[in-house]
Amino acid sequence: MAMGYSEKVMDHFIHPRNVGEMTDADGVGEVGSAQCGDIMKVYLRVENGILTDVKFKTFGCASAIATSSMATELIKGKPLAQALELTNKAVVEALDGLPSVKLHCSVLAEEAVKAAVKDYYDRNGVDYDPALFAETDGEHTHGHSSFVNGV
Ligand code: FES
Repeated sequence: MAMGYSEKVMDHFIHPRNVGEMTDADGVGEVGSAQCGDIMKVYLRVENGILTDVKFKTFGCASAIATSSMATELIKGKPLAQALELTNKAVVEALDGLPSVKLHCSVLAEEAVKAAVKDYYDRNGVDYDPALFAETDGEHTHGHSSFVNGV
C-alpha cells in the first residue's frame, strides 16, 4: 500500500471512473486549490432531475483523482438534489479512508460537484439558498473564479 493509501484509492487512481469531458453538459463546476494548484472540473448531464451522466477532468494528485472518480460514482444515476448532500467525508469513507494530509483533496471533489450543481441551477433559473454553496473547507483557500477559463 503506497503511502498508506487504501486499495480502493489505488484502484480509483489507476482506473479512474467517468474520466472525460462533455461539450454539451447541463452543468459544469470547476474548482482549484490555491494551496497546491490542483484543478478539478465536473460535468453533469441532467434529465428529468436525474444525473444521467457525470464526467470529470482533474489535474491533480492521486487523491484528487481518486476522490473525483469516487464522487462521480456516488452521484451518477441519483437525483440532482442528492448531489448536494455529497460530503467529502462520504467520499473518503467510500474509498476506505485517506491519509490525513490528503483530506483536503476530497474537499475539492465535494466542491467541484457542488459548483456543477450551482451552475445547473444558475443556467436554469432555479432558486436556491446561497448558503448551500458556502465554502466547506477552512484549511485552505480555493480560487474558484480564477480557473474558470483555465482548462
Ligand atoms: Fe492538491 Fe491533492 S494535493 S488536491
